[in-house]
Parts: sequence; structure tokens; C-alpha cells
Amino acid sequence: MSTDGVDNSKRRFLTAATVAVGAVGTGFVAVPFLKSWSPSAKALAAGAPVEVDFSKLQPGQLMRVLWQKKPIWILNRTDKNLTDLPLLDDKLVDPNSEVASQQPEYIKGTNRSLKDKYLVAIGICTHLGCSPTYRPEVAPEDMGPDWLGGFYCPCHGSKFDLAGRVYKNVPAPTNLVIPPYSYLTDTTLIVGVDEGAA
Ligand code: FES
Repeated sequence: MSTDGVDNSKRRFLTAATVAVGAVGTGFVAVPFLKSWSPSAKALAAGAPVEVDFSKLQPGQLMRVLWQKKPIWILNRTDKNLTDLPLLDDKLVDPNSEVASQQPEYIKGTNRSLKDKYLVAIGICTHLGCSPTYRPEVAPEDMGPDWLGGFYCPCHGSKFDLAGRVYKNVPAPTNLVIPPYSYLTDTTLIVGVDEGAA
């Protein structure tokens, strides 16, 4: 464990996390606290938009915040991640994000994001609501040789890629939900405010 709370002793990737109220999710890596925002309890209860500073998020890192009591993931995808995403299309239920309920209308296609690098998604499995685990490794033994990184739900085995797109033949029926969000600056976004409305 390094002094900044990030466990990088065993893995080349890092995961950072920001947590507003208690712990979020069931990630398997350490959770440092990045004090990027501090909405009041009243604002949180009302489901107020949440501003997120992700300036410290390195390629391959995932951070978590809470919005409307839901875990929101912000993932900084590597160039290789983005190159790999289209390779998975044949294995996915909705590779082009055509199920309208799963994302705002301004989120389209393969990457499912406003900016290609950054995935913003609600970290709740679309089967029965468990929190999937971030599995960025390529071809780990337990995920098989075709695994290019993604999210794995430990409850019933659903799998999602690094755009939150669900694999075929798993219990989850749809892609992970993308929340409404928009950018305030290059390194700050706001969850809960639609693109164009900030
Ligand atoms: S809740 Fe995720 S697979 Fe069932």
C-alpha cells in the first residue's frame, strides 16, 4: 500500500475513489479520499447535482462518487481501452446504445460518453442491482482469454465492458445506465445536469 492510499503493489492499474457519505460499492482496491466536493446532506437528500473534480484521475483509474444515493463511476479509459471497445461489439446485447432508457439522448454509440476518454456511469447492475467490480486486467484467468477489461457483477455473473455495455448470455438485460451529466471544465463535470443545461 502506498502512502496515498492506493494499492498498486500487485497491479499496474490504479483505482481512486471519492466518497461523499460512507463507502460506496464493493471495489477490490483501496479507496483514497479526494476532497473534490462536499455537498450538504440536505442537498444530497434532494438528489442535487454533484460536481466532480477528476483532475487527479490517471489513465486506467476509476473513481466513485454518490449522486441520488447511487454510486457513480468516472473511469479514465486508456487509448488501448478505446481501441478495444469496437472489437467486442459481436459479444454484446446493445453495442450501439440503442436502448433509449439506458442513457441520455446525447450519449450515443460505442463509447457511451461525452468525451471518449471518460466513462461516466451508474455503478448498479441492471439485473438485480448489485455493484459490479472493476476488472481492467486483460485476459485474467478467471475471466477468460477474450476479456479486454470491464466490470463483473459477482452476484450472478453479469459482465459489462469498459463502456458499461452488457455482454450476451448473462442475467443483466441491458447496458449500465449513464446518468445525465455535463462538463464544467476540462477536468470538472457535474452529474445530474444535462449536457447543454449547465
Ligand atoms: S445483480 Fe448483477 S448479475 Fe444479478
